[in-house]
Amino acid sequence: MRMLDLITKKRDNQALSKAEIDFIIKDYTSGNIPDYQMSAFLMAVYFNGMTDQESTDLALAMMTSGDTFDLSDIKGIKVDKHSTGGVGDKVTLVLGPLVAACGAKFAKMSGRGLGHTGGTLDKLEAIPGYNIVLDEQAFKDQVNRIGLSVIGQSKNITPADKKMYALRDVTATVPSIPLIASSIMSKKLASGADAICLDVKVGNGAFMSDLEEAKKLATLMVQIGKLSGRSVKAILTNMDEPLGLGVGNSLEVIEAIETLKGNGPKDLETVVLEIGSYLLEDAGIASKSEALVMLKEKIANGEAFNKLVELAEAQGGDTSYIHHPEKFEKAKHIIPLKAEKAGYIESMTTIDVGLAAAYLGAGRETVDGLIDPAVGLVFNKKIGDYVQVGDTILYIHANDKGLEDATNTLKAAIKIGEKQNHVTLIEGVIL
Ligand code: URA
Repeated sequence: MRMLDLITKKRDNQALSKAEIDFIIKDYTSGNIPDYQMSAFLMAVYFNGMTDQESTDLALAMMTSGDTFDLSDIKGIKVDKHSTGGVGDKVTLVLGPLVAACGAKFAKMSGRGLGHTGGTLDKLEAIPGYNIVLDEQAFKDQVNRIGLSVIGQSKNITPADKKMYALRDVTATVPSIPLIASSIMSKKLASGADAICLDVKVGNGAFMSDLEEAKKLATLMVQIGKLSGRSVKAILTNMDEPLGLGVGNSLEVIEAIETLKGNGPKDLETVVLEIGSYLLEDAGIASKSEALVMLKEKIANGEAFNKLVELAEAQGGDTSYIHHPEKFEKAKHIIPLKAEKAGYIESMTTIDVGLAAAYLGAGRETVDGLIDPAVGLVFNKKIGDYVQVGDTILYIHANDKGLEDATNTLKAAIKIGEKQNHVTLIEGVIL
């Protein structure tokens, strides 16, 4: 087999066989196929697309390019979720303890934030002592024992994807639905869960701003999951404003704690309940409607909150912070951003809201950059709310970095006008 012939085939819009895709991924990962040929191939895929079968074969080939997790010695159905990334997305911190309190096995490998989006690992590390590094056996033992674990990726998962993603980044081939879907699904499939719910974010703070494109991506990922023998569902949720009120690491942990106690913002709770009920259904624990009742019960009776305490304790975290969130170190300055005119909050460029938090130190610019857990934003008003001149739209929690940039960015990002817009939180579901 020659790479040149396979590039030609894709350029001429023909479907590749599984053997051909396996060859490309194996030889590219081992270095036998040079970047210039892979770049040409990726561009051909960008223009001509792939069939669902090709995308599935690509995801599976990338999955087997490295280590995979075998979770079969965890008893029961293992559930997982994945978000395509957004601002203020602390769903995992609430969902994991909640579904585990209902009896599901939540075995999750999470990532760090980059650019305008936050990452679950950074949020968990805001809990002093929380250890994101567990070996495979300790991870599985913990899920068997308490029903959940959230860790970073320690093994060499999907090296083909890492290499291809870096190449796509510099060859203008990231925004291709088959390439994104196979990249995400290769990692999800390698992580070993039986049932996965994908939270595909749509809007100006998400990777996909167009609903129709997001639906295509979600449908393809669900299809790849099914063709690979896993149970995969996707919900499309809005990211035209941050989810919840807090953006920033310890601020988001505090909001997650409040949500587990039943005092969380409605939008966050809605997304958590929606994903949670699909996961409980897939785990065979309850029907979707029974699951909703059960999830609400576990919040009301404190069991979901207690699971977060158990999770933190099992992974070395100081649980006094969960019991007393006022212990989280506060930023030195908490400054209100006030409305300069009266009207409705019409819209916000959510990507810039995420960037403003990153300027303060809540996010990182490079993969190994340092973050400041205390800084970020807490919203007081969101889209559709009315403000008078001088009303506080949000509070900026700042230490020594980025206050001026963040303030200017936020002022430009938030539009006040005469129209009372409403955000449709759940934009669709792909089963
Ligand atoms: N996230 C991924 O993991 N891969 C992509 O290609 C895009 C977003």
